[in-house]
Amino acid sequence: MAQNWTPSSWRQKPIQQVPEFPDKAALAATEAQLATFPPLVFAGEARRLKKQLASVAEGNAFLLQGGDCAESFVEHGADNIRDFFRSFLQMAVVLTYGAQLPVVKVGRIAGQFAKPRSSNIEVQGGVELPSYRGDIINGIEFSPESRIPDPERQMMAYRQSAATLNLLRAFAMGGYANLENVHKWMLGFVKDSPQGERYRKLADRISETMDFMKAIGITAENQPSLRETDFFTSHEALLLGYEEAFTRVDSTSGDWYATSGHMLWIGDRTRQLDHAHVEYFRGIKNPIGLKCGPSLQADNLIELIDALNPANEAGRLTLICRFGHDKVAESLPKLIRAVEREGKKVVWSCDPMHGNTITLNNYKTRPFDRILSEVESFFQIHRAEGTHPGGIHIEMTGKDVTECTGGARAVSAGDLQDRYHTHCDPRLNADQALELAFLLAERMKSGRDEKRMVVNG
Ligand code: PEP
Ligand code: CO
Repeated sequence: MAQNWTPSSWRQKPIQQVPEFPDKAALAATEAQLATFPPLVFAGEARRLKKQLASVAEGNAFLLQGGDCAESFVEHGADNIRDFFRSFLQMAVVLTYGAQLPVVKVGRIAGQFAKPRSSNIEVQGGVELPSYRGDIINGIEFSPESRIPDPERQMMAYRQSAATLNLLRAFAMGGYANLENVHKWMLGFVKDSPQGERYRKLADRISETMDFMKAIGITAENQPSLRETDFFTSHEALLLGYEEAFTRVDSTSGDWYATSGHMLWIGDRTRQLDHAHVEYFRGIKNPIGLKCGPSLQADNLIELIDALNPANEAGRLTLICRFGHDKVAESLPKLIRAVEREGKKVVWSCDPMHGNTITLNNYKTRPFDRILSEVESFFQIHRAEGTHPGGIHIEMTGKDVTECTGGARAVSAGDLQDRYHTHCDPRLNADQALELAFLLAERMKSGRDEKRMVVNG
């Protein structure tokens, strides 16, 4: 067990991004009550995910992580969860084909509520109020009352996470995630997309593979792996009082696990080595993520890896790189070289969202081309360094929103106002998300073909 660590030792450290709750007694009472509630996930599941991520670290699998920037109380409905899951599974199938590797599926869902903010205040029409920090902390409505941190919201977030996870488990295990269904949905997308012709070749090859499997008797009826899927949850563990309440001892191993989600990550704004978030994370045994932005220096990264993964266990730590399309070439190689030099086992994942946010017509948005460009650079750099581009981390929804510009059904700056629903950052809509998967799969496949040509000389 980590030295001198307890689930509350983070309270002795400086902390960023967690607001003052005006009613301390109410906050303490809420945390005490949450600590009596059932866990959302159990340690065995977190270990299973860690094993799958170890396989990613070793170059034998690919990680797809994605979902809302911020889940919200008003968007809590079966349709939203179903549509997200549908889009996510289609991406996973396309990427499985592209990478010719198993895809580890991790949603930003069932707990992704707390948001770090660049500014503590928001100004509208000359009025200044505290920033919105996610539905688990305060309300998005621009009024003084709504922006007061309210501990009751943590109860609501827990209940919503439990209900969301329950439906996801039913979808994942109850037949909805059947590969034949997912394949059918994907063909529907290809038929309707203005760029459908471009994706048809890859889609046809997936269809042929499915037909071949059927011909030799491998079907969803007789193969559980074709009708069920592993699906894991993740969120940024920003609100440490809430996380502490769900930090429990696993009776099998005697170790501490966060039970609010399978995988938790540390945000780019809260990764100071001697601060509260790193302190909390070092003591839990879950697989964890660390966001790596342009300000992260290679020596600092190595110190963080030593603190967070002292045993150098593969699958424990995923480095989620979010530099920006124009900074990735400058920032990433240095980090890769330091990690390789020190022999650290990590999963390299690319978050092409958070370094590519711009403002257009007063909307925060992200151009699709820049998102694609950052992932492409990420792949190229890893190819050049001889390391495994292990995965992608994206903000997406299964709905037809207009939050990111571009894509085959080009969303323009003027379209942003039509269906801009996000509570925080702009998400890829269902078509844009699947398009990204097709474009990446195409490139992964051509990368493999090139390699094969070199080998066969
Ligand atoms: C996020 O993932 O929503 C986020 C805030 O990311 P980052 O910490 O990388 O800015
Ligand atoms: Co975000």
